[in-house]
Amino acid sequence: MTDLPGGLRGGEQPTAPYLDAIVAYGFRGPGRFHVPGHKGGPGADPGLRHALGDDALMLDVPQDIRGIDVGPAPTPYQRAELLAAEAYGARCTWFLTNGATQGNHALALALAPPGSVVVAQRNAHASLVDGLVLSGGRPHFVAPAYDEELGMAHGITPEALKAAIEEARQRHPAVSAAFITSPTYYGMVADVAGCAEVAHAAGVPLIVDQAWGPHFGFHPDLPQGALQLGADAVLTSTHKIVGSLTQSAMLHVGHSDRIDADRVSRTMRLLRSTSPSSLLLGSLDAARRQLAVHGEALLHETLAGSRRLREKLAGVAGVTVVGEEQVGSPGVADWDPLRVVLDVRETGRTGYEVADALRQSYDVQPELATQATVVLVLGVFQPESDLVRVGGDIEETIKRIVPVPPTPHEAITRPIAALRHDVVVSPREAFLGESDVVGVDDAVGRISCESIAGYPPGIPALLPGERVTAELVAYLRELRAAGARLHGASDPDFATINVLRA
Ligand SMILES: Cc1ncc(COP(=O)(O)O)c(C=O)c1O
Repeated sequence: MTDLPGGLRGGEQPTAPYLDAIVAYGFRGPGRFHVPGHKGGPGADPGLRHALGDDALMLDVPQDIRGIDVGPAPTPYQRAELLAAEAYGARCTWFLTNGATQGNHALALALAPPGSVVVAQRNAHASLVDGLVLSGGRPHFVAPAYDEELGMAHGITPEALKAAIEEARQRHPAVSAAFITSPTYYGMVADVAGCAEVAHAAGVPLIVDQAWGPHFGFHPDLPQGALQLGADAVLTSTHKIVGSLTQSAMLHVGHSDRIDADRVSRTMRLLRSTSPSSLLLGSLDAARRQLAVHGEALLHETLAGSRRLREKLAGVAGVTVVGEEQVGSPGVADWDPLRVVLDVRETGRTGYEVADALRQSYDVQPELATQATVVLVLGVFQPESDLVRVGGDIEETIKRIVPVPPTPHEAITRPIAALRHDVVVSPREAFLGESDVVGVDDAVGRISCESIAGYPPGIPALLPGERVTAELVAYLRELRAAGARLHGASDPDFATINVLRA
């Protein structure tokens, strides 16, 4: 067995030290004269005890317990994070109890201080822009590739990233990092290796928000993990696909020296509760063990089931399965078969209508619906019976929904990529500054305090700190008129907007 850094010995992946430590403590009958107040169950409302079971309450233990996260290093808690780092090929891993959201906040604080500029994918998750509100750095945005027909944003290309870094450099010399998202909500994977090469040639670290790909790299038929492709830091939202509890995620820093891990640790301390949930942390330790030890076998079955489901759905009139054929189009270097994306335009119905019909008829709850698509998310182990059943449910639903003649699909709006985004002040200054609520036409020329993204396409049209233009107002009106939801807008009807007080 090889000695590994941090006091780990090779071959420890089948253990779950933190989970085992809270189990050992929780059930040995300690005198619980510490928080939480339910004292392992007796003080909890009977309804909660019934709902969660006493076992879960016994394991709900606080921080700073000897033998769990206090004692000789590495403590079980430290070993759990070291094992996660080993499994993901990282230099350091942090367990997150506020989702990948917390990871974006931490990375923004660590890498985008006031006065700095980060190149960021325009449709990055809102938590990245929120991280910039916390940190004070400014974004320089790069547009993702966009399939207008399907209303689907893909990844960004290395060429677009290179051009954006150069453009950002011309305006502000202090470009400190590049943030991209891969995979997308639809499972499309960017050319991460190409983006890493471009970022590193420009001397900046590449951060990949792989929130939707915590399983990447754990089966040969899945895309490789971004760290293996050269990224310097990666976020994995473990709860989304792998079996940890909702709100638990991980932040990994790679082996390059482009990111100061101590700085990330400091920002993590700032963002972390002093009472992180032991249930969430324990679930991360367990999910890592399952993924590292049995992930390949579990994924093997899920991938086979996913393949059979796609084959079935490919034979359903009106449905086109979107996935592998996208590979090679701009912004798509690979794809994730754990996402089943259905283009339902040929039914003459929208994705929203098909998703509603599925809910009402069969209690099938898709992850996402858009004008053109319905998206199902599969987990690391999705039993074959689920997949067979949902295949039948979709087939029946499509047969039953009253068919209407398909109308030729028109792009809902002008391409968002054509819009200019003028970042005037940092998101922090706009978000925290004094604001006025004004009519949208009066807002032209003012600086937005809001983030507004239309769904579809889900790409923010306006972010805090950007100038409101007549073109943007027209674009958002058009989106609204086409039935899109304006996510983030203080006025969903888009009659008024918050702007920075002049
Ligand atoms: C790309 C991306 N990053 C980050 C997040 C935030 O993840 P979490 O819900 O784990 O906080 C999401 C959530 O959907 C996401 O889609």
